[in-house]
Amino acid sequence: MAEHASATEEAQRAAELRHEIEQHNVHYYVQDAPTISDADYDALMRELVKLETEHPELITPESPTQRVGAAPLAAFGSVQHAVPMLSLGNAFEAEDVQAFDRRVSDTLRGAGLLRLDQSPEYFCELKFDGLAISLRYEDGVLVQAATRGDGQTGEDVTANVRTIRVVPLRLKGAAPRVLEVRGEVLMNRADFERLNRTQAARGEKVFVNPRNAAAGSLRQLDPRITAQRPLRFFAYSWGEVHGLPGTQPGLFEEPTGNARQQSTLPHDSHGAMLNWLAELGLPVNTQYNKRVTGAEGLLAFYEQVGRERPGLPYDIDGVVYKVDSLAAQKVLGFVARAPRFAVAHKFPAEEATTRLLDIEVQVGRTGAITPVARLQPIFVGGVTVTNATLHNEDEIRRKDVRIGDTVIVRRAGDVIPEVVGPVLSQRPQDAREFIMPTRCPICDSAIERTEDEAIARCTGGLFCAAQRKQTLWHAAGRKALDIDGLGEKLVDQLVESGRVKSLADLYSLTAFELAALDRMGKKSAENLVAAIDKARTPTLGRLLFALGIRHVGETTARDVARHFGSIEAIMDADEDALCGAPDVGPVVAGSIRRFFAEPHNREIIELLKAQGVHAVAEAGPEGNALAGKTFVLTGTMPTWTRDEATRYILAAGGKVSGSVSKKTAYVVAGEEAGSKLTKAQELGVTVLDEDGLKALLGV
Ligand code: IVH
Repeated sequence: MAEHASATEEAQRAAELRHEIEQHNVHYYVQDAPTISDADYDALMRELVKLETEHPELITPESPTQRVGAAPLAAFGSVQHAVPMLSLGNAFEAEDVQAFDRRVSDTLRGAGLLRLDQSPEYFCELKFDGLAISLRYEDGVLVQAATRGDGQTGEDVTANVRTIRVVPLRLKGAAPRVLEVRGEVLMNRADFERLNRTQAARGEKVFVNPRNAAAGSLRQLDPRITAQRPLRFFAYSWGEVHGLPGTQPGLFEEPTGNARQQSTLPHDSHGAMLNWLAELGLPVNTQYNKRVTGAEGLLAFYEQVGRERPGLPYDIDGVVYKVDSLAAQKVLGFVARAPRFAVAHKFPAEEATTRLLDIEVQVGRTGAITPVARLQPIFVGGVTVTNATLHNEDEIRRKDVRIGDTVIVRRAGDVIPEVVGPVLSQRPQDAREFIMPTRCPICDSAIERTEDEAIARCTGGLFCAAQRKQTLWHAAGRKALDIDGLGEKLVDQLVESGRVKSLADLYSLTAFELAALDRMGKKSAENLVAAIDKARTPTLGRLLFALGIRHVGETTARDVARHFGSIEAIMDADEDALCGAPDVGPVVAGSIRRFFAEPHNREIIELLKAQGVHAVAEAGPEGNALAGKTFVLTGTMPTWTRDEATRYILAAGGKVSGSVSKKTAYVVAGEEAGSKLTKAQELGVTVLDEDGLKALLGV
């Protein structure tokens, strides 16, 4: 550049450099085919940095220099997904795939979308073993990136995602007003190994596999660290899309009179949508994605990918099949949280043999005693395994596993490795049988096993430090109270010192006392106190889940919370009333009732209240037009039972009530609807039939 270049020349050169560098990023990271040397790339980058340092007005948010990472965050914000991020059903055997194809074919034929002599068209993809992410572009500019979280709410990782070279900060060409891109963040195997070597050399944490390395790098509070990690991204789906250029945004009137923008898509098939995403500059795996016909096409794709898998630069744990036509996808709809139009076909678990050195027992959150195999370290399924679960005593007898045996160890995807069985031909003379201890190795309470249960349990309850610790870890977990910074080591110290005996004690911790603990700085102590304070107002579902009641998982907790609306109502409900909540049967109801029948559990609720903890009502999925709307069901519907309809309404964030009032948003009337229908008509409440309800729910 000339010494006294004019301002326009400098601006032009900066734009040129930005463009050129981003092109090289794509060549390097997406196509794996760099066209210049690292030194030349660095020279371009240095020139741009120099220009921007001298003329800060030339810096644009999408400049590649801005990918170095912003200042660290204290905690991640949360992001409500406008369209939930779903999971996929699994297929393991060819028969599962054939059954999937049959279900799809039958439904599409029934809907008149497929002739009898035709088979469905599918779009096949790799199932990347990374972590799902949603990128939100507004007017072509990346404005937000969020992890999947529980599918409804994720973590805001925008600052980190901005450092991933292949993620365009601005889309190419004519971008829609809003575009949410869904895809996977991952790390190539070679990059992962290089990263681990560097980490080890610096005495820092090494990661067990590329997926954990990718997750750890993305969930970093300091984006400058993320910027140094070789993360990649592939787009495979989308969420909210609207405001396509050249089209009028589709508007529809909500019953409340609010106009909302409707999703409009430019293409009618999954494959065409992905091509469009690629045209906008998003990395799409065009090398492997493939359109096929029928179950035979799917299975051929699986075979082919299976053969090529070892040579891929990244880990995959299967392939994904999606019905290609979007109209057909819509007809197929969803079950629970997974689409009926797609399925993941998993690769079989990997197995290896090693020596079983010993069998020890671990005490779980509910006192369950799990025998754990201590193994001669063995590399299987991409990680070194030293422990594997043996589930329970009966399982050990059934498999006839003895200490000293050579055993087969299996590991699939992210699941805990397990001991499949012994290699009997290699059993040594002195192999020993496992004997279940009679006393808890942690608290010395008796270990008991009731007749009808396969599980032995420590009877110590919350007297047992192991159970106390696990109860607290569980409560602090991301799906429960989400207390960032309360890790295992810290819980161990808090419990062992006797300072924290129950969940309620957590809330009285001060930064001063925390700072005195091992490996705790003043800043982290303050952050932890802030995180605990934030957890004073969890949603009711999270609080219920945090209590760790047996059989009450995160979804059940949310359903029960939505149904009852307050902790008091849940505490006072009898089994019949509990069974009225969606998907709650006698086992779950009995477990909840027994939990709250225990005076010390009721006392914990009182102590939590005294610490200022109060749960907020469980809202429906945000961004959903049905959130908080009340429905009344009356009469008999042609295909759905009332229970089914209730479940769908609750899942969509709505409420169901027994009587019609001015507050009722919709009355769903079937055959022989009676006085409720009349009342609805009198009050001017919208009346729907079953089809109308389904249309509203989008199912
Ligand atoms: S589609 C509506 N496609 O698998 C379906 N998912 O169990 C949404 N994944 O959380 C997912 N590769 O992290 C889809 N080609 C692919 C995928 C993929 C990996 C992961 C993703 C998701 C999980 C679903």
